[in-house]
Amino acid sequence: MDRGFFITFEGGDGSGKSTQIGILRDRLTEAGYDVVLTREPGGTQISEKIRDLILDPANGEMDDMTEAMLYAAARAQLVRQLIKPALAEGKVVICDRFVDSSIAYQAYGRGLGDAVGVINTYAVDDCMPDLTILLKLDPERGSNRIAGREHDRIEQASDAFHRKVYEGYLKLEEMYPERILGIDASGTIREIAEEISGRVNEIMSR
Ligand code: TYD
Repeated sequence: MDRGFFITFEGGDGSGKSTQIGILRDRLTEAGYDVVLTREPGGTQISEKIRDLILDPANGEMDDMTEAMLYAAARAQLVRQLIKPALAEGKVVICDRFVDSSIAYQAYGRGLGDAVGVINTYAVDDCMPDLTILLKLDPERGSNRIAGREHDRIEQASDAFHRKVYEGYLKLEEMYPERILGIDASGTIREIAEEISGRVNEIMSR
């Protein structure tokens, strides 16, 4: 490969993303690919500091626009410091959440609309995923799955917010069918993993 391959995972809280990311990473590594796994917000020292600021439940006063800009700032650093260099070296980059999270959570969930896409044009700098796996789970089921855990500032938001986020994801899936593969996350771990591998193999062998 002259340029690596960029895969992102998206989905609401409690959709089983981490499990599927681990399975795909292991499969690609076994197949001989050099895989870099990262996450948003975070993935670099600076972006992890921004993450702490955003998710801290003590920051209840944070304005929605501040939040959107902080996610974009964390992303700008991650794209330039880690994702682009890794892709240039021919690696496969798997990122747990990326710009679609900002569109779903900040544009749709917080209701900030088009401003979010505009800010993120600069953050992403043309480095869009080759494939995005969207794990679709009804938000009520998602919040039941994470009920026992301690919640960060975003997870604490209302059910109505999470419903809007979910609807935002469905719109994105409709808008970008070539890039976004939506999968019903209520299937078994194995079924979902097979569907993901099938699509990844198909696209990577093009
Ligand atoms: P994290 O613990 O990584 O959540 P998850 O395990 O569900 O991926 O926390 C990230 C939170 O930040 C999550 O609730 C989604 C939210 N988020 C946004 O609101 N906008 C964004 O651009 C990103 C990347 C995440």
